[in-house]
Amino acid sequence: VTDVSITSRHDITVIKLGGSLITDKTRQDTVHDKDLKDLAALLARQTAIQGRLLIIMGGGAIGHFAAKQLRLHQGFPHCDLTRLHRMAEKMYTLKSVLADMLASHGVPALAFQETSYMVARDDGGISLYDLPIRHALRMQIIPILSGGLVFDAIKGVRPLSGDLIPLALDQLVFRIRRVVMLTDVAGVIANDGTIIRHLDAVTRTRIAQLDSPPGRVDITGGMQTKVDVTLALARRGIPSVICNGRGLDDARFESLLTGTPPDCSLVGFRPDNGLSADCPATFHRAG
Ligand SMILES: Nc1ncnc2c1ncn2[C@@H]1O[C@H](COP(=O)(O)OP(=O)(O)OP(=O)(O)O)[C@@H](O)[C@H]1O
Ligand SMILES: [Mg+2]
Repeated sequence: VTDVSITSRHDITVIKLGGSLITDKTRQDTVHDKDLKDLAALLARQTAIQGRLLIIMGGGAIGHFAAKQLRLHQGFPHCDLTRLHRMAEKMYTLKSVLADMLASHGVPALAFQETSYMVARDDGGISLYDLPIRHALRMQIIPILSGGLVFDAIKGVRPLSGDLIPLALDQLVFRIRRVVMLTDVAGVIANDGTIIRHLDAVTRTRIAQLDSPPGRVDITGGMQTKVDVTLALARRGIPSVICNGRGLDDARFESLLTGTPPDCSLVGFRPDNGLSADCPATFHRAG
């Protein structure tokens, strides 16, 4: 492989496997193995049909608990510096478990370790060194990324939500066809209990509650981060789907990736979706 320079742009579909879906966020280090296996099988089949996927894994019961115990949000020097490596290791193992599952279907995938290619900047954005990701994509290896522990220009270290990664991908290098955020809820739920079908600056005002429910450990903004990220992506012309990832079959999964799936929230799908200047263009340092 010689040239992965700016002359090659990568067409990708980004899939976030939410921690709420693949783990039990009320109990430390619990992974829903069967659900993850089923998702790996679906991903393997869709890879054959869709081509290039980029997977982001949520931290769930692994990342959020570890970050909290290490006091990661307090940054340097107040967090537990001597045990940071354990969190990094746990997140890497989670991604490698998925890589193993995909390998069992003959699909090559590779876990990336977050401190090695991402740094949180002082303007609130993320610097992402994408060359290794581009190499993987060129070789038809699925990159498995995640948030987790990253270095931070101001705080030294910080927890990072994987939801933010699509925003950090260079638009000149990656053409993101769509971002699919799989969670354990049907979509973004409004104050009246209904699912917001088209999320935009106007419908956004119908949602007050966006945090994770009590009992769950979550330190990266829950649904709020997903709402902010998908609205910012929509402003760049990138559509997103926020939906339940449990019990998917092939037809439903394919429709999430390429169709107009029912029973979920769509962001940036309509040309007249009312996106206006008050959608966040960049992100504050929330998660
Ligand atoms: N208005 C809302 N609509 C939908 N979900 C909401 C809303 N308010 C709060 N939530 C909660 O947000 C959760 C999804 O965010 P959360 O960050 O927990 O999931 P995730 O991103 O899949 O997990 P992780 O951050 O571990 O990857 C839902 O499970 C739900 O309980
Ligand atoms: Mg989250």
